[in-house]
Amino acid sequence: MFTIITGAQFGDEGKGKVVDLMSGDYDLVVRFQGGNNAGHTVKVGEDVYKLHLIPSGFLLDSRVLIGPGTVVNPEVLVREIDMLAEGGIELGPEKLGIDAKASIIMPYHIELDGLRESKRTEKIGTTKRGIGFAYIDKVARDEIRMYDLVNRERFLKRLEELAPSKEAAIKQFGGDPSMVMDEALIDKYVELGKRLAPYMTDVSYEINKALEDGKNVLAEGAQGTHLDVIHGTQKFVTSSSTIAGSACANLGVGPTKVDDVLGIVKAYITRVGEGPLPTELTDDVGKQIQEVGGEFGTTTGRSRRCGWFDLPLLKKATYLNGYTSVALTKLDVLSNLDPIRVCVSYELEGHILGYPPEDTAELANCKPVYEDLPGWDNDLTGVKEFADLPQAAKDYVLYLEARMGVPIEYISVGPAREQTFKK
Ligand code: GDP
Ligand code: IMO
Ligand code: MG
Repeated sequence: MFTIITGAQFGDEGKGKVVDLMSGDYDLVVRFQGGNNAGHTVKVGEDVYKLHLIPSGFLLDSRVLIGPGTVVNPEVLVREIDMLAEGGIELGPEKLGIDAKASIIMPYHIELDGLRESKRTEKIGTTKRGIGFAYIDKVARDEIRMYDLVNRERFLKRLEELAPSKEAAIKQFGGDPSMVMDEALIDKYVELGKRLAPYMTDVSYEINKALEDGKNVLAEGAQGTHLDVIHGTQKFVTSSSTIAGSACANLGVGPTKVDDVLGIVKAYITRVGEGPLPTELTDDVGKQIQEVGGEFGTTTGRSRRCGWFDLPLLKKATYLNGYTSVALTKLDVLSNLDPIRVCVSYELEGHILGYPPEDTAELANCKPVYEDLPGWDNDLTGVKEFADLPQAAKDYVLYLEARMGVPIEYISVGPAREQTFKK
């Protein structure tokens, strides 16, 4: 069985939590895009794990893989491996694999990301982790790959070849180009390469062989649908393709192998960084959702902008991903709000739109048209099954399910594993 999980909104939908929960049924859990711009939180008992690169399936028995379409900061990866080891969780090469073709995020990518963002008059609000510049180099065929990093001679040769253009780019943005060939940084990367060498693998081969042998594979998306570099709200997007089809292309698995596509959908909407968010709440209701939901970024600590559920954006997400089912997360956060509003369409220059306009500038001008549903004041965090939800919460779930046109398979009412039930 091959299952793909993606975020249906702007990221932070609770993918990490759901992947952890489901990973018990999967032999392989694989990241297919993005890098340490992601922040995935997994809570088990009193332990909270906040990881940026290691797939969220690491706690149970699955083998976890980082695919060739990702951009890997080796320092962050080694730090995560060491942090887990300190907590008694050993991620040796039999447990974790990194594709030999994965692109390496170099210090100059991080430098360029920061410099470029500081020079923009209209900012994107990137995580400044060098993601965009690492992907630019991948497409330009100027990247350093895992298999370069683990071989000192090859790494140094490649770096020397690339250095002049990197130095020129940094200089152009007013930065200090000497960091490109900084000896201490190079030595550090050589050491990181040695450390990571035993983890190298061929992810596409591993997945296809596993599927051939009747095993189960789970592809874990990072970011969210509307941050997709092609279909998202350009320019306010990340630099990789975040939608379900991207899992096939990035992992080298044929689309005929896909069994399920699960969308992770928050019971409201959040966004970190700039870009349109038609239902954004800048009032006390938005503040309440932010505080109750703990809506502060795992990666950068920035507050997440919060808004009501946006059906036109969700409809687009179901088209882009072809969801076979949905996990609805953070339903508990909406307690003590009345009414609960759902955006059913937009008003744009006197026209009513049921689907987001393709032009980001037009989306930014869309005014939400709401339907109001009654709220509830019960605490949902201890609810164990659908039947035990208050009627208004049940009605909200059933309303969303009918309007999305995709079955809701899981409902989550808190960060812990046990705060999840099948609908
Ligand atoms: P991801 O990027 O999609 O993996 O999501 P994050 O981990 O960045 O953000 C989701 C946050 O919400 C994390 O802090 C989770 O522990 C938490 N969370 C997940 N599901 C629920 C839920 O149903 N209710 C509440 N209150 N918190 C949740
Ligand atoms: P997870 O996997 C939310 C956002 C950034 C910025 C834009 C581009 O935890 O859901 P980048 O550094 O990728 O070039 O920034 O994308 N962004 C995320 N927002 N969750 C994420 O990941 C994100 N990863 C990137 O805030 O607006
Ligand atoms: Mg996150």
